[in-house]
Amino acid sequence: MSLIEKAAATRLNAHAPYSGFKVGAALRTKSGAVFTGCNVENVAYPEGTCAEAGAIAAMVAAGEREIAEVAVIADSPAPVPPCGGCRQKLMEFADRDVEVTMATTDGARRTVTVGDLLPGAFDMSHMDKV
Ligand code: THU
Repeated sequence: MSLIEKAAATRLNAHAPYSGFKVGAALRTKSGAVFTGCNVENVAYPEGTCAEAGAIAAMVAAGEREIAEVAVIADSPAPVPPCGGCRQKLMEFADRDVEVTMATTDGARRTVTVGDLLPGAFDMSHMDKV
């Protein structure tokens, strides 16, 4: 199963009763392991979590930290882009050249890099005076 197919399968488990917008994410680490996530909404809306955040949490819980590739999928008119917060979360564990494939359930695909998604990102170099 491809990374997009794993994201699509996990998307079906999303808990999205408020937005109705189910998202699935899958990431492969440098070791070759794959971790997946889906969005988990909450009646207290800000407590909801994104699919990407779920996949990252599963990866870290399993003792891994190095993302090699990412896939995200939703039933959207155009390939679904990670939200701003998830871009920063991805950058925590991925080099800027790591590819993120955004997809629709209709088969559209767009691949960009983590660096493309978050130019000028805040990182450790900005804390050099601390
Ligand atoms: N969402 C994700 O899970 N990932 C994205 O990349 C975009 C947005 C979720 C959050 C919320 O549950 C729903 O999609 C609508 O914003």
